[in-house]
Amino acid sequence: MLARRMRRLLLPLAFVVPLGAWAETDPDSGLVIAEGWETVKSTCTACHSGALVTQNAGSRNRWEYLIRWMQETQGLWPLPPEMENTILDYLAKHYGPKEGARRAPLPPSMMPENPYKAAKQDSAG
Ligand code: HEC
Repeated sequence: MLARRMRRLLLPLAFVVPLGAWAETDPDSGLVIAEGWETVKSTCTACHSGALVTQNAGSRNRWEYLIRWMQETQGLWPLPPEMENTILDYLAKHYGPKEGARRAPLPPSMMPENPYKAAKQDSAG
């Protein structure tokens, strides 16, 4: 009786994300509040919403590539190296490659011989 009431009380709690998993975000831009975020906010939300940044994920190289692309084609101004470093550090750390992302499959030439291939052909043929 008591146990049942306890379960009813505790069950919804299981769905609450543990507090530690919450990164504090800026309500305005959606950016994670951490070292460098103000530089990122002032630079990277000048032309588009912060959501475009927070929806993306990638390695430092990928972010650098995106910055170069915006500089070459979208009118992003040159960033002082120090500032660019701060921005790239921040992006790579807080918007790094998605953890669930999987590597591309190996090409067949890199796979070991399939020991079942011949047997299967035999029985099928
Ligand atoms: C001078 C204007 C400007 C600034 C400043 C700017 N961007 Fe962009 N950015 C653009 C434009 C324009 C697009 C293309 C938007 C679209 O496709 O609708 C874009 C697209 C993006 C995209 C999406 C790319 C994709 O693959 O779809 C990301 C991510 C991004 N910007 C990140 C940033 C970051 C990080 C910064 C700060 C370093 C930044 N932007 C600063 C103009 C800018």
